[in-house]
Amino acid sequence: MNCDVKVDLGDRSYPIHIGSGILTSLGESCKAVGLKGRCLVVTDENVAPLYGSQVFQSLEKAGFKPVLEILPAGETTKSQAQLMNLYSKAAAHGLDRKCFMVALGGGVIGDLTGFAAASWLRGICFVQVPTSLLAMVDSSVGGKTGINIPQGKNLVGAFHQPELVLMDIDTLKTLPPRELAAGMAEVVKYGVIWDSELFRKLEQDSLVDAGLIARCCEIKAEVVGKDERESGLRGILNFGHTAAHAIENVAGYGEFLHGEAVAIGMVYAARLSVALKGLSEEESARIEKVLTQLSLPVGVAGLEWKDIRAAMAVDKKTVGGLPKFVLADRIGHVEFGCEVPEELLKEVWNGISQ
Ligand SMILES: NC(=O)c1ccc[n+]([C@@H]2O[C@H](COP(=O)([O-])OP(=O)(O)OC[C@H]3O[C@@H](n4cnc5c(N)ncnc54)[C@H](O)[C@@H]3O)[C@@H](O)[C@H]2O)c1
Ligand SMILES: [Zn+2]
Repeated sequence: MNCDVKVDLGDRSYPIHIGSGILTSLGESCKAVGLKGRCLVVTDENVAPLYGSQVFQSLEKAGFKPVLEILPAGETTKSQAQLMNLYSKAAAHGLDRKCFMVALGGGVIGDLTGFAAASWLRGICFVQVPTSLLAMVDSSVGGKTGINIPQGKNLVGAFHQPELVLMDIDTLKTLPPRELAAGMAEVVKYGVIWDSELFRKLEQDSLVDAGLIARCCEIKAEVVGKDERESGLRGILNFGHTAAHAIENVAGYGEFLHGEAVAIGMVYAARLSVALKGLSEEESARIEKVLTQLSLPVGVAGLEWKDIRAAMAVDKKTVGGLPKFVLADRIGHVEFGCEVPEELLKEVWNGISQ
């Protein structure tokens, strides 16, 4: 089954194609959205040998002039150095305003390439071809692009929407199981914040198909369509993320995958929600159970509360040292900007510390 989702943002609207075996149609899809000429295809060393040539050939066959740039895999590639490297490749290959970039890979490649496209010649077109589950259901949709700097993750970036997103779900067959599970944490998030039906489906089975990915993209598209630049509603996508960012930060990047930290952060947020928003104990337990079924962690050991609390105070989304939370009153509905009494923050942390 192939699915199409539209991200509705006026003159910045774009299609998301989701299907099996559609990587070879990338060139035609690029043509269909009016792209032309030369393009810089950016990918990483894990993805390049698996899908680089299919993408390259599809673009060539459709009349484009692609050049491939293969970067090291991993979060450290989202750096100033790699951004500069992409600028010099863009210059060397004569990428002008009519040319475009293609991000083929996970969220790291998507965020970096998107930001290079946002800033090269003050902004050229780009296409997202996500190959990790996290990139499919989250990072490739919505237009947030950026890099990390030594002072922190994602501190430099821009909103820049792609012309097209193409997801071939067959690429997930080669994704390491731990990465797949981490991506599922964001899928669970969509169930909790927006869609109790989706949540119930995840309780029954964890099948990842085009329909499941399309539903996540629809939810993200709807939220982003209402609040592109995160002045309010878009914040609900951060459910579980206040604690998750603190956990990633204190444990050291690389210890937990982002989705694993989000799983723990969602358990934390669910328990705060029981105390403050009337989420039932039973629903909170269902959230923990579904995460456990997906082989995701629901607790954490060896992290000190004072370090976690300090990390929460410097989170990008924190204003004046007081972290604001997205909390659920029931599965399928959340509120953003919730304040939490200081003692409760600690008490609930102690509850998830093993
Ligand atoms: N822009 C946004 O809105 C947004 C949202 C969420 C996360 N992010 C960012 O996304 C990044 C994380 O993305 P990620 O989890 O995709 O990480 P990633 O890009 O590092 O990919 C994870 C690993 O899987 C490999 N891989 C990717 N696809 C594969 C495939 N099909 N087969 C085999 N291996 C494959 C990669 O080489 C890498 O080693 C972070 O930098 C995060 O900040 C951005
Ligand atoms: Zn996330």
